[in-house]
Amino acid sequence: MKKSSYLLGLTLATVATLGATPALAKGKLNVLCSTDTDWCSLMETRFEAETGVKVSLIRKSSGESYAQLRAERKNPKIDIWWGGTGDPHLQAAAEKLTQVYKPKALPELNDWAQNQAKVSGYRTVGIYAGALGFGYNADLLKAKGLPAPQCWKDLTKPIYKGEVQVANPNSSGTSYTALATFVQIMGEDQAFEFLSNLHKNINQYTKSGSAPIKAAANGETAIGITFIHDIVKQVKKGYPVKAVAPCEGTGYEVGSMSIVKGARHLKEAKMWAEFALRPDIQTLAAEAKAYQVPSNKSATTPDGAPDFSTLKLIDYNFAKYGSAETRQHLLQRWDAEIKSLPR
Ligand code: F6P
Repeated sequence: MKKSSYLLGLTLATVATLGATPALAKGKLNVLCSTDTDWCSLMETRFEAETGVKVSLIRKSSGESYAQLRAERKNPKIDIWWGGTGDPHLQAAAEKLTQVYKPKALPELNDWAQNQAKVSGYRTVGIYAGALGFGYNADLLKAKGLPAPQCWKDLTKPIYKGEVQVANPNSSGTSYTALATFVQIMGEDQAFEFLSNLHKNINQYTKSGSAPIKAAANGETAIGITFIHDIVKQVKKGYPVKAVAPCEGTGYEVGSMSIVKGARHLKEAKMWAEFALRPDIQTLAAEAKAYQVPSNKSATTPDGAPDFSTLKLIDYNFAKYGSAETRQHLLQRWDAEIKSLPR
């Protein structure tokens, strides 16, 4: 190599190294994201652009994220867990896997989001709300000559054998919300009887909560049990999917955010927490076709988000169903009595 090109190479290498230094100086953040991937990516990009902090983000379902925090308790790799159903965030809070933090925006939030913070001793906070329901592919039901179901109990009818999809409640917060909802509506034993009948109609237990309605949109299943906002997303994308708010009433989630105890990048985690509660940032959800109700009262609710005042919502007992004991009990019972049943 000629001396001049060697020097040029050296200079470029030095510039590249120096160029990397300011980004490093602005910090790093490891985010565990339990919303839909589109919204995770949007948040990652916007936060990096605004702060210069380098984000490393992984998407996992709510139950899987909770399991990861438990497994890494002694050596946390994640700094902040953003999104996912509130129950496992409360369970993580009760086990002190997450840390106390009172975001500045707390007084700007809706009562349900502030309440989530209070119930957890300020180890988590509500970032959005979403109501559970089910959706169906209208074209597919028509082609099969099947009526549109309107109630939870309809989903157990033999005519829907192999036509219903739902996630596994161990991995998915959506499905845990469904399990807890059935227990609250029907009583525990009747709920398990309902689930064993429903099992006969289930074609697959998926890992992620929104997978069943994506499958319904693609015509791979006729019916998917999921949050109504995830159904709205498929409707907005133009799929022949319809949302149902079940006649018996339904449960809901307070999607949450928690800073991990022992976070290596605590300053950046707090920056993300403040960022994620800002009204302008919550308003961005619509760009990612996320139709949850935002927690900041000044954020704009996306056009098409379900109107909670028109839904028959149960008085979801977050303290009870967000406790680690209730989670363990219900999931053990589901594993023992439902998962292994023949279909
Ligand atoms: O982002 C979509 C969403 O339904 C959230 O509202 C919810 O918190 C999350 O997914 C639950 O995902 P999962 O069921 O995979 O844990």
